[in-house]
Amino acid sequence: MKIYQAKDYQEMSRKAANIIAAQIILKPNAVLGLATGSTPIGAYQQLVERFKQGDLDFSEIRSVNLDEYKGLPKDNDQSYAFFMRTNLFDHVNIKAENTNIPNGLETDIEAECSRYNSVIDQLGGVDLQLLGLGNNGHIGFNEPGDAFENGAHCVKLTENTIQANARFFATIDEVPKYAYSMGVGNIMRARGILLVASGSAKADALYKALFGPITPAVPASILQLHSNVTIVADEEALSLIKEHNCLPA
Ligand code: GLP
Repeated sequence: MKIYQAKDYQEMSRKAANIIAAQIILKPNAVLGLATGSTPIGAYQQLVERFKQGDLDFSEIRSVNLDEYKGLPKDNDQSYAFFMRTNLFDHVNIKAENTNIPNGLETDIEAECSRYNSVIDQLGGVDLQLLGLGNNGHIGFNEPGDAFENGAHCVKLTENTIQANARFFATIDEVPKYAYSMGVGNIMRARGILLVASGSAKADALYKALFGPITPAVPASILQLHSNVTIVADEEALSLIKEHNCLPA
């Protein structure tokens, strides 16, 4: 596992964008696993700038997103489909037909999960999976639990996640209670993983994920078993790790 330290959110975003840009340049038809949440927004902005400068070409890039709220149509401004269009897809030359996000409106859970697993398989797996980190250690919407989920599944969101995501909705009652998510197995099968974390609210989860026991109670802790994980985190997110002297000086 490589851990890159950044002094703040801006630097974290630039470093993360460098790694994603390198993937796009080295493999122009790469399959990118994409993430939502506020943490990756800065990296997406950097990628958009580099595209505008002519340094990146997304025309052959394929993408699969980690998750989507169940019950939200893709034009709802809180859906992850909307997030991806406004933060990245609408500003680069990725082809809409090459982007994949779970269908939040599908009510047949089994059908949607098996469709999404097939989408990932047919793309030949993910080359680089971008991940944020939930305050409770979740990745995608894999919430703390008793077991690691393998494939795509429908999740009942925890109270902690509903509260954390309430800031994006007018009232807490509007936050969806369920979501479709890639499983931990889908994530672990990615050939490379890039996790970004910023701010002191992530310090505890990041410490437990990288240096605590590997347990489904902290879903991100399974990343310790992946052979190609890169972490880009800012000083605040790394504060507890530094306090425990887990990083080389
Ligand atoms: C949501 C997403 C996760 C994301 C997490 C953290 O729950 N499903 O993929 O990592 O939020 O979001 P933020 O980056 O806004 O803290």
